[in-house]
Amino acid sequence: MRCRRTGRPPEQALASNSVERFVVTGGSRLAGEVLIPGAKNSVLKLMAASLLAPGTTTLSAVPDILDVDVMADVLSALGARVGRDLAAGTISIETPDVPGAVADPELVRRIRASVAILGPLVGRRGEARVALPGGDAIGARALDMHVDGLRRLGAVVDIEDGALVARSSGRLQGAAIWLDFPSVGATENLLMASVLAKGTTVIDNAAREPEIADLCEFLARMGARIEGIGGSTLVVDGVEELRPVAHETVPDRIVAGTYAIGAVMTEGDVMIRHGRAEHLGIVLEKLAAAGARIEPGADGFRVSSTGRPRSIDVVTLPYPGFPTDLLPQVIALEAVSQGISLITENVFDSRFVFCRELLRLGAQLRTDGHHVVVRPAPRLAGASVVASDVRAGAGLVLAGLVAEGTTVVHEVHHIDRGYAGFVENLCALGADIRRERDVAVA
Ligand code: UD1
Repeated sequence: MRCRRTGRPPEQALASNSVERFVVTGGSRLAGEVLIPGAKNSVLKLMAASLLAPGTTTLSAVPDILDVDVMADVLSALGARVGRDLAAGTISIETPDVPGAVADPELVRRIRASVAILGPLVGRRGEARVALPGGDAIGARALDMHVDGLRRLGAVVDIEDGALVARSSGRLQGAAIWLDFPSVGATENLLMASVLAKGTTVIDNAAREPEIADLCEFLARMGARIEGIGGSTLVVDGVEELRPVAHETVPDRIVAGTYAIGAVMTEGDVMIRHGRAEHLGIVLEKLAAAGARIEPGADGFRVSSTGRPRSIDVVTLPYPGFPTDLLPQVIALEAVSQGISLITENVFDSRFVFCRELLRLGAQLRTDGHHVVVRPAPRLAGASVVASDVRAGAGLVLAGLVAEGTTVVHEVHHIDRGYAGFVENLCALGADIRRERDVAVA
């Protein structure tokens, strides 16, 4: 049956061996309205930051995604009581007076964002043991800036039995920290470690992603003193304690950008409700250059397009540059655009694994180092492909929407890590896509 309501089944949420696939029949045009939930890359850090204050933190606009389930389990294993209201999109986290210091290694390995508990735990209770984290297979993803920064704050950090262990005999001590690269995760960890430190911490060359501003605002509401929110120099005056608060998660700009690109690829017309156009500046500029019409509204923005898109060149960079998390989706767009496109990836070293799968659909592209040249293909044709990470999976689904015939995307648990109700939302927009149990992986 086409477009059954097949939400992510709760019993499969934590079954790491559950195997499902999406079956996409190409040729539909996306039209209508889609609601954008809170950002995965914000909510996971807000959940980690709840460890900084005893009592009940309440988060709203929480997306119904696998990574939130895993992070909830990470916190529960540290002694927090986590309550989830899926219908309301809220989560409440009751943090104990003394949370545990040792994160469950099996859970931590499943999501990269779990490393975000390191900063709050060492900042609040002077000790944290976190297994080296997992997550998407998109490169080496080192943690040296996290470790160096924590050391500058006075923590002793070692690797013991495959885990990062950070200890501090008293409160951490404010320090000047210069990041070699504006790492999202290192900025967040050091921010969360420094809010309870003695004295002033300056984080220079900090990442400026909207999710970091969201975390700063959340911490400020808890009582943290942070200057420079949204900029590349964050100045934190440590306080002795923080209080739990309620907070609404910032909308997910990557999910919004994915639907926007889908609208352009399918020559559609989509109202992206709750999408923040100001967080997608360069992305929407590029889509306009590809021929799309972008109309900002009071609570979102509309993307419409007619005719085959014009090709665009894209270079990924830390915010406000073009986000690496929209790279596979934009490569899929270029595969069906009119001209030749040069795309450069500057953040992760293995994003182009996705290109191998796109080639199976008939895309004309060639990678060289961190560049990919995409030539216009006469047509894409359905095939069996494998999602290697959350964004690659989204890119393959978008390509399937415009490929002739049927595309089967395997390993969709990766997509479930970041896209709430992806199948339902695409169906509501007119796509022909369904989720089914997988029988064999190509
Ligand atoms: C976060 C996002 C991810 C996004 C990325 C860049 C989450 C859960 N994930 O990942 O979706 O693609 O930001 O916008 O929020 N690096 C080091 N040493 C370090 C830290 C990072 O070399 O100590 C390198 C990484 O290997 C990578 C680059 O810096 O090549 C960017 O990493 P970072 O900005 O830290 O990304 P994440 O926080 O892992």
